[in-house]
Amino acid sequence: MCCAVLLGGAASAQRLIRISTSETELLFSVASNGRLYQSYFGRRLLNEADTTRFLPAPAHNNGQEAYPGSGGESYYEPALAITHADGNMTTVLSFVSSETKQLNADAKETIIHLRDKVYPIDVNLHYVSYEAENVIKCWSEIRHEEKKPVTLWRYASAMLYLHSPHYFLTEFSGEWAKEMTPSTQQLQFGKKVIDTKLGTRAGMEVSPFFELGLDSKPAENQGDVLLGTIGWTGNFRFTFEVDAQGILRVLPGINPYASAYELKPGEVFTTPEFIFTLSHEGIGKASRDLHDWARNYQLKDGLGDRFTLLNNWESTYFNFDEAKLEHLMKDAKTLGVDMFLLDDGWFGNKYPRDNDHAGLGDWEANRNKLPHGIPRLVQAARTEGVKFGIWIEPEMVNPRSELFEKHPDWVIKQPNRETYYFRNQLVLDLCNPKVQDYVFGVIDKLMSENPGIAYFKWDCNSPITNIYSPYLKEKQNQLYIDYVRGLYKVLQRVKEKYPNLPMMLCSGGGARCDYEALKYFTEFWCSDNTDPVERLYIQWGFSQFLPTKAMAAHVTSWNPHTSIKFRTDVAMMCKLGFDINVDELKPEELAYCQEAVANYKRLKDLIFNGDFYRLVSPFETNHAAVAHVSKDKKKALLYVYDIHPRYAEPLFPVKMQGLDARKNYKVEEINRMPGNDLRSSKAPTSLQVYSGDYLMKVGLPLFTTRPTSSRIMEITEE
Ligand code: DGJ
Repeated sequence: MCCAVLLGGAASAQRLIRISTSETELLFSVASNGRLYQSYFGRRLLNEADTTRFLPAPAHNNGQEAYPGSGGESYYEPALAITHADGNMTTVLSFVSSETKQLNADAKETIIHLRDKVYPIDVNLHYVSYEAENVIKCWSEIRHEEKKPVTLWRYASAMLYLHSPHYFLTEFSGEWAKEMTPSTQQLQFGKKVIDTKLGTRAGMEVSPFFELGLDSKPAENQGDVLLGTIGWTGNFRFTFEVDAQGILRVLPGINPYASAYELKPGEVFTTPEFIFTLSHEGIGKASRDLHDWARNYQLKDGLGDRFTLLNNWESTYFNFDEAKLEHLMKDAKTLGVDMFLLDDGWFGNKYPRDNDHAGLGDWEANRNKLPHGIPRLVQAARTEGVKFGIWIEPEMVNPRSELFEKHPDWVIKQPNRETYYFRNQLVLDLCNPKVQDYVFGVIDKLMSENPGIAYFKWDCNSPITNIYSPYLKEKQNQLYIDYVRGLYKVLQRVKEKYPNLPMMLCSGGGARCDYEALKYFTEFWCSDNTDPVERLYIQWGFSQFLPTKAMAAHVTSWNPHTSIKFRTDVAMMCKLGFDINVDELKPEELAYCQEAVANYKRLKDLIFNGDFYRLVSPFETNHAAVAHVSKDKKKALLYVYDIHPRYAEPLFPVKMQGLDARKNYKVEEINRMPGNDLRSSKAPTSLQVYSGDYLMKVGLPLFTTRPTSSRIMEITEE
């Protein structure tokens, strides 16, 4: 259990607050004006005595105030802005006290209490630092005791200041089938904003992640880089503001767009968590730290197992019946995967879900396609010896549904304007507790009637359109925030009742994958784009922030010109699944897939829980290479891809990372396919032994000039 150490006391007694991990230091100090300032953020200081050199904190007009309020003397974007009950729009926070408690051997929480001397506004700043993972997460709580409600119109999760001659920001834009497209720009004086206003399918145009290179562009293996993300399954905003002194202010939070929030006396407004890591060895190290943190603390069943699966979406779309599904379950068995996953199209009777125009909301099995309902499918899967998973999209409704007919007031929809439909559907009003009950009931009913269901794929294909909640009435400004809170209430209930139920989060591809949602999901769907070439780029992007065990990747028929081996080898680096017509595979292709699945299962502990290295970037070369290395450095998997090499281009060896230089390793190619062998005599297609030193300094000649070819090397300590 945790032991609490109270460091706080009167402001005069406590001038310095130290938040640190093994490698990072964040210092706050109280200035002579009684206010709190960030005095240092950077590499961990070795000498305790050096931390006090920053006192007294800069108390000039534009000092680095920890959580600046609006209407004060600062010229820049505030963290907090409140219109008080009397209409006054200023807030100035003074330091009251702070306390630090050890949460476990690794994690420490510091809470800093701030208060306005004029208005009864209290703010608690929370910082949890994870020593081993080098990750800090922080959030704020805002509360007041004014006589009437106040209005919050800025409510950042935190404020961070960086001081460097140059700042380079990498953001990740995208759209359907183009998720996580990176672009980098230098930040100059003024503001750069990354935000979304899409509500549910919030990350459709931009994902909630950023990288900040200090001094130079973020690079994989060197340089100071800050990786940041926000745990909020809705509208987020990151503001980056370089001030006249060249200091960069980073403001992460909920996007306050159309969301001035009315806060009642005594009510606590808790912001989402801002999660960040500062690396001095480039993005690669930062990613591995985030992966460790996610597996240890955030991702549902972060350290647990994952199911390989066969999904039916790409091979059937809405067109299936019992016989076809039972056949697919046999295929799952033949492939050797753990589970069959039934996708969209299984429900709706009055309005059958035969396409995406009808049925959403009516979660009863369609009697034409599935006369014996879900129980028969669960039983059929059991007979085949595979598990059964099922798709739902419980936040949404088609106007052509019985649910809409019965409860038109449960839907987010304008009362007095023409309705705008995205994928022919509307979003249910999760601000309404009755709707929350209903959405929870979708899973609960399926589970009560079919306890054999082993997995859910939770989809979300529409942004919030027609912004109007019938439930909130004149408080429409709370819709975006109350919706997300309603969603969390539902997900929390699901997690409490079904703690061991694996679930995949999907949003018309990869438009939802923030770290708060992933508390409730074991994995997410990266993209509907499963062309293996495109996937190399998309997976490269997501893997910078999320562990590969959380990234669902399926072998499909997108880009059928590529070999089944190439498609499988690309999916193998993540959480492996298939979504193909197994009957169309040639015997040698099927044999290859079976062997790949068997290898994947044999090596899954390494793939799921090892360290991930991005070795050769597809963005910088015509090839790609990545590796998983076990924590004890005894085992590794090296994945090598030729994407679109040019004629007779020079090929460079692939250098490993993360091995023990003093150990010897056996290197052997797995997932071999006839005709794919390397021509170079130096390449280790059969078992050979190398030192870790050689593998990391010299590397292996594994690239070829054959387009879309791949190799996977198993590396084992001798
Ligand atoms: C969008 C998802 O990304 C797909 O995988 C599939 O589940 C469809 N929705 C079903 O409508």
